[in-house]
Amino acid sequence: MARKLVTGIVGWRGMVGSVLIDRMRAERDFDHIETLLFSTSNAGAAIPASLADVAGAAATLLDANDTAALSKCEVILTCQGSDYTKAIYPKLRAAGWKGYWIDAAKTLRMNDDSVIVLDPVNRPVIDAALARGVKDYIGGNCTVSCMLMGVGALFKAGLVEWMAATTYQAASGGGAQHMRELLTQFGALNASVKPLLDDPASAILEIDRQVTARQRSLSANETRNFVVPLGGSLIPWIDVDRGDGTSLEEWKGGAETNKILGRGPGFGSPATPIDSICVRVGAMRCHSQSLTLKLTKDVPLVDIEGLIAQDNEWVKVVPNTRDATLSALTPVAVSGTMQIPVGRLRKLAMGPQYLGAFTIGDQLLWGAAEPLRRMLRILCKA
Ligand code: HSE
Repeated sequence: MARKLVTGIVGWRGMVGSVLIDRMRAERDFDHIETLLFSTSNAGAAIPASLADVAGAAATLLDANDTAALSKCEVILTCQGSDYTKAIYPKLRAAGWKGYWIDAAKTLRMNDDSVIVLDPVNRPVIDAALARGVKDYIGGNCTVSCMLMGVGALFKAGLVEWMAATTYQAASGGGAQHMRELLTQFGALNASVKPLLDDPASAILEIDRQVTARQRSLSANETRNFVVPLGGSLIPWIDVDRGDGTSLEEWKGGAETNKILGRGPGFGSPATPIDSICVRVGAMRCHSQSLTLKLTKDVPLVDIEGLIAQDNEWVKVVPNTRDATLSALTPVAVSGTMQIPVGRLRKLAMGPQYLGAFTIGDQLLWGAAEPLRRMLRILCKA
């Protein structure tokens, strides 16, 4: 086995970090690295017992704000979030640190000298970057990564003239507190009509009236994270308002997809137009997307299905039937799995070059943790 890279891990306690550690354990990644666990809040404390098996020789947590300690790492892998990257990364580079930085924050993602990593889709882009000495490898926006794991084959084959998406994004995209808030809201709504629900003779319009009244009177505390009710509703705006009619999440869809594929300004090729309306819905951790693609030519549906199915080992084409859709193409079916189902594939009424599709991905796995750990393994072999 190659020499183990000294790898500092930051942000392992949070939701994405915990999913990352679980996946790294499952894939035996820790056999390939010399692990140092850093903490922003608990430096000097003993390694938690739950991580004793992965923590290497170090007995205590190191200080994630100590650039000298971080500088000893050949790789830093962080799920600590964009504020941490913003604060620490420039200091490390200014101090001459030449190691590999892997994170999932938006801070460095669109920099000219960073690569957005999604190796089943853009391994050639990653390999070319490694060869020219690029050191920053950043996980993409979760919606973008899940979409490309599903229909990336069509982009790779040069078949996409443009794509429009409507997203159905889970509470987890906001964070752990958002998931709790969603469930708390569902609970409050249910409690508000429980006696009526238990009575089969009660009037549904009275139940609806009371639920709506409860939704509209949810307190500031009950809507602290989503600002407005999400339980029994939806929110067609995700992330900040860019002031031009788009949300930041919608802008990322086009900008990041093209960068992942190595297209657009900076790559000497025209960008593929991609636009979307991003919507938060009451799902837990799976982001879904309804896609409309204008193809560059009329390709038979069976060939399209074949291209998608053969693209990677996680994508699954779901037959476009009611039964198959209900059993395999829902957030509940996908949650906690690595599978990326693509279904509802059919030519649209607009003409034979217009394709409809629906895809789902677990946004904590392919949308966040998985591309990072896979990049680490690529470095271990490099
Ligand atoms: N911005 C995404 C969301 C999550 O809010 O769902 C991470 O990319």
